[in-house]
Amino acid sequence: MITIKSRREFAKMAKAGACVADVHRRVREAAKPGVTLLELEEIGAQTIADHGCTSSFLNYLGSYPATLCLSPNDVIVHGIPSEYRLEEGDILSVDAGAIYEGFHGDAAFTVGVGEVTEEARHLIDTTQEAMWAGIRLVDKGNRLGDIGSVVHEIGTAHGYGVVEEYVGHGIGREMHEEPQVPNYGVKGKGLKLKTGMALCIEPMFNIGRRHTKVDPDGWTVRTDDGTLSAHWEHTVAITPDGPQVFTAALEPVPVEEVVAG
Ligand code: MF3
Ligand code: CO
Repeated sequence: MITIKSRREFAKMAKAGACVADVHRRVREAAKPGVTLLELEEIGAQTIADHGCTSSFLNYLGSYPATLCLSPNDVIVHGIPSEYRLEEGDILSVDAGAIYEGFHGDAAFTVGVGEVTEEARHLIDTTQEAMWAGIRLVDKGNRLGDIGSVVHEIGTAHGYGVVEEYVGHGIGREMHEEPQVPNYGVKGKGLKLKTGMALCIEPMFNIGRRHTKVDPDGWTVRTDDGTLSAHWEHTVAITPDGPQVFTAALEPVPVEEVVAG
């Protein structure tokens, strides 16, 4: 079911989103050569507690064992924080979700650790650009296919594999609600967006093929050809006052301002 949220519910989602934005800020600052993924996990958990929130991910499906998903290099999504120590030249995708009074925020970014190759930088930047292109289309009257087609077009225009097995989603009282928001689609087709909806827009681009494989741990999703992957995500709501990106800053801001800034 697609839930249509009230102003009161959106206000709670904005709080959850601000918490996620703060997790991003603190983890990004700490993601330097020599730090372990478990140290970043600790920063994420502490930040969520500081905001009076709880983690959307911890114990997800009765089994996800951490607060953050930390996905280095060829890991696309759902990497479990480990003793792995970041090295100069790595890239790292950081995904965080928080719950405030029953409402979720969910967002991800990919960062270069120290100096990264031109190829890695371009992958990170293009994936982020595709996310914003999708976010700009989150407005009443537009359709899911408008978002998916633009994201897919940007990825393929740069020769990247655009991951299809994992998709964006509605969000609210649950982290994953209907509808699914695939990173492909046909312009003008699919569900028509309305005020009261909230969506996570989350492209995953690979330098090589789009195909994925899952580690024996049942979570870690990798590129099947071992190439680097980037992941960006924001929680975007169509509020009665227009679209807002809840996870982009400490206060919710209208889409136009975030895109311009
Ligand atoms: N943030 C991811 C998403 O966008 C979900 C994380 S999976 C979990 O769908 F197991 F960590 F919760
Ligand atoms: Co998500």
